[in-house]
Amino acid sequence: MATAKEIVSFRDVAKIYHGRAVAVSDVNITVKEGEFVCFIGTSGSGKTTTMRMINRMIEPSKGSIIFKGKNIRKYDPVKLRRTIGYVIQNNGLMPHMTIKDNITLVPKLLKWPQEKMDKKATELIKLAELPESYLDRYPAELSGGQQQRIGVVRALAADQDIILMDEPFGALDPITRDNLQDLVKHLQETLGKTIVFVTHDMDEALKLATHIVIMDSGKVIQDDTPDNILQHPANDFVKNLLGEERLLQAQQNTLSVGDIMSKNPARITLGKSLSEAIWEMSTKHVDSLLVTDDNNKLKGYIDLETINEHYSKDSSVSDIYANNLIKVKKTSFLRDTSERILKQGYKYVPVVDNDNTLIGIVTRASLVNVVYDAIWGKEELENPEDANLPASITKGSENA
Ligand SMILES: Nc1ncnc2c1ncn2[C@@H]1O[C@H](COP(=O)(O)OP(=O)(O)OP(=O)(O)O)[C@@H](O)[C@H]1O
Ligand SMILES: [Mg+2]
Repeated sequence: MATAKEIVSFRDVAKIYHGRAVAVSDVNITVKEGEFVCFIGTSGSGKTTTMRMINRMIEPSKGSIIFKGKNIRKYDPVKLRRTIGYVIQNNGLMPHMTIKDNITLVPKLLKWPQEKMDKKATELIKLAELPESYLDRYPAELSGGQQQRIGVVRALAADQDIILMDEPFGALDPITRDNLQDLVKHLQETLGKTIVFVTHDMDEALKLATHIVIMDSGKVIQDDTPDNILQHPANDFVKNLLGEERLLQAQQNTLSVGDIMSKNPARITLGKSLSEAIWEMSTKHVDSLLVTDDNNKLKGYIDLETINEHYSKDSSVSDIYANNLIKVKKTSFLRDTSERILKQGYKYVPVVDNDNTLIGIVTRASLVNVVYDAIWGKEELENPEDANLPASITKGSENA
């Protein structure tokens, strides 16, 4: 479980080459323990530079980087690098060393006893979901994806708390990449590691990150949780990076019933006569009405067909209304209700507040619009299947 403790923080950091070429500047980022941070941005935007400054593979030109409460300048660079895991794109396995020697490289440097290392090797090969016999193989005897699995688990070998990964899965096919993403996310969560991860791939970032840092031209453009970035992209650059489809989807994910309902549905109270109900339907051009009591509590509905069948001058709405209707709460998320409503073929669904007071109506047509928006994008909207709804309560409620 993530704690609020800071593990790395950048304070006004810049990297300037040859006194003039600004690779990155004004970087202020905090990474907390247990976070999975993804740096994402265009090529040359400074992701690798920023990440490598954490373990002093690149020295900052300006500002300070605090690692576990101490300026990284105060650490011995070699020791610092050993306390921070690092995974590079083509896994960095030593070809002349067995898998076992490869995954215990850092422990060996840290002078762990042999027994502890053997135990660690067995544990790691299991984590990589590979047979134990692979420990004696050489990297060339493994597939690219298997080698990368070893690269990932090796990064966890020396019990480092934080691991840097620079586009580790960029060169892999989509299925292998997906599996490795699952592996790394699982290990990160179960072992409580902190990961700083560079990627070009927004799907990868959204899948893995608890915290995304978006970079452009050497600057941090936005630094927030995936949800907040999707809900409030900082500018057009971020919007472009996310793409219209993801933004619409995100928007739909947080839309509530209250956001799209129409107010003032056509309605009638229990005590009214059937003639009054017919009159109400004809003035509102609808074929059914929602029925409430005098306090506006939703009771059911009444439709024209039923009135025709059971009409009597002396009957009231309360004698023949139907009370078997589904309703939704104003605060429900559309993502949880829309599919149910669309699948069941209701023309409309009444909306109530927590006290069952009738406050609105969601029509099938408005739902179809929202759902089609999210799935197909705006331009495909012209002819949703159900655009030609029969005259129903929807019409009256929207005109009311
Ligand atoms: N040794 C160097 N000397 C001068 N400029 C450099 C050096 N290393 C990197 N740069 C420049 O710094 C900028 C940031 O580079 P960096 O490698 O951090 O980008 P990146 O975001 O990781 O890009 P990519 O997605 O292509 O890996 C680039 O403009 C690059 O040309
Ligand atoms: Mg890079």
